[in-house]
Amino acid sequence: MDEILIKGGVPLNGEVKISGAKNAALPMLAATLLAGGAFTFENVPALKDIETIGHLLADLGADVCSEPGTIRIDTSGVNRHEAPYDLVRKMRASVLVLGPLLARLKRARVSLPGGCAIGARPINMHLEGLSRLGAEIKLEHGYVEASADKLVGAEIFFDIPTVTGTENLMTAAVLAEGTTVLRNAAREPEIVALADMLNRMGADVRDAGSPVITIQGVNALKPVSSRIIPDRIEAGTYMIAAALTGGSILLTDAEPDHLKPVIHKLREAGVSVSINDRGIEVRGNGPVKSVDIKTLPYPGFPTDMQAQFMVLMSVSSGLSIISETVFENRFIHVSELRRMGADITISGNHAMIKGAARLSGAPVMATDLRASASLVLAGLVADGTTRISRIYHLDRGYESMEEKFSRLGACIERVAAG
Ligand code: EPU
Repeated sequence: MDEILIKGGVPLNGEVKISGAKNAALPMLAATLLAGGAFTFENVPALKDIETIGHLLADLGADVCSEPGTIRIDTSGVNRHEAPYDLVRKMRASVLVLGPLLARLKRARVSLPGGCAIGARPINMHLEGLSRLGAEIKLEHGYVEASADKLVGAEIFFDIPTVTGTENLMTAAVLAEGTTVLRNAAREPEIVALADMLNRMGADVRDAGSPVITIQGVNALKPVSSRIIPDRIEAGTYMIAAALTGGSILLTDAEPDHLKPVIHKLREAGVSVSINDRGIEVRGNGPVKSVDIKTLPYPGFPTDMQAQFMVLMSVSSGLSIISETVFENRFIHVSELRRMGADITISGNHAMIKGAARLSGAPVMATDLRASASLVLAGLVADGTTRISRIYHLDRGYESMEEKFSRLGACIERVAAG
């Protein structure tokens, strides 16, 4: 298995092109199941999770053809309705086929995703929402079996905003009879991108990006071409790299509007962030000030940036408190960061970080995608060499990470584990 080796302490300078967003691409690729025909996607990141959803669509009968940056999917032949355990086990977002399969084929059999490193992550709100639309839901042999003679629009209230839950309900409701209203819906930019695709397919989805989404069902949808929006979490990760190493990085192809909560916190910490027509320019301006953060659904500070921000706070000038309110177990990076010299204490869902730590390179192990990114960032600023194992997590969500960091001047390489 590959590992990443980093010799830290080099300020990163230059330009980095931000890739298409994994979490926008996944629901959009799943939404191809809603109509038979040829879809094209541009700006698709080369990631393991994208390969996995491609395999799943092919398994369902679609013809999937990938070339760098582009995926073409012909869904004319889709005739199966099962997402098997082996694929869902690799990527829990496979559950995104549930809504589209139910809408088009009137049935779906999807392996129930288990918990994962960051929390139990149930899908009860997806299932309750689908049954409000008239689906019969059974849980048998580890699978969700959903069926419906027809789906009928309904009012659905989410207890807490759920990103993939909102996406599954949107894709089920577009072909339902009548009107569906989703209340307390997730508002992430990825939801807006999906609604935009669905509307171009002929759906009637209104007010995506607000907490109340209204969907008027239509009889049929048609295939379209789409471009994937930039990855705001990848962008945020490179912004922190500039701040951490005291360098200057220009991010091209990023969307500043989607990054407002992250930009706001970086500026509060004294990091210079300027937005011009070339992109977003981030400069580490001497010592970083400590700031507190609390993760929240969009437009709050993203949980997917919490681990990376914690590394920045570890080298800041004072004390900071980071509160994780979205997932119950998302501090798994802390024990590895401590081994690199970070001074972090956890109490419930709060982490107290005493800044001014001098991080030192160590062998560390990645445990989930964003935790892995935080270890890379820590390695970039640490003295000596950091060796990160289990980097398959990074390959799920960061396109060409070592190449991008190398081009910015980092001493980073991927090696086969000895
Ligand atoms: N939840 C429930 N019941 C449900 C659904 C969610 O209790 O039926 C809870 C979750 O356990 C969690 C909270 O609601 O505590 C919010 O979870 P959400 O459903 O929004 O998360 P998700 O849709 O499973 C997506 C992203 C995650 C990102 C979260 C939060 C995709 C494919 N995944 O997950 O991305 O952390 O939203 O923003 O869009 C990542 O990219 O590394 C990643 C984990």
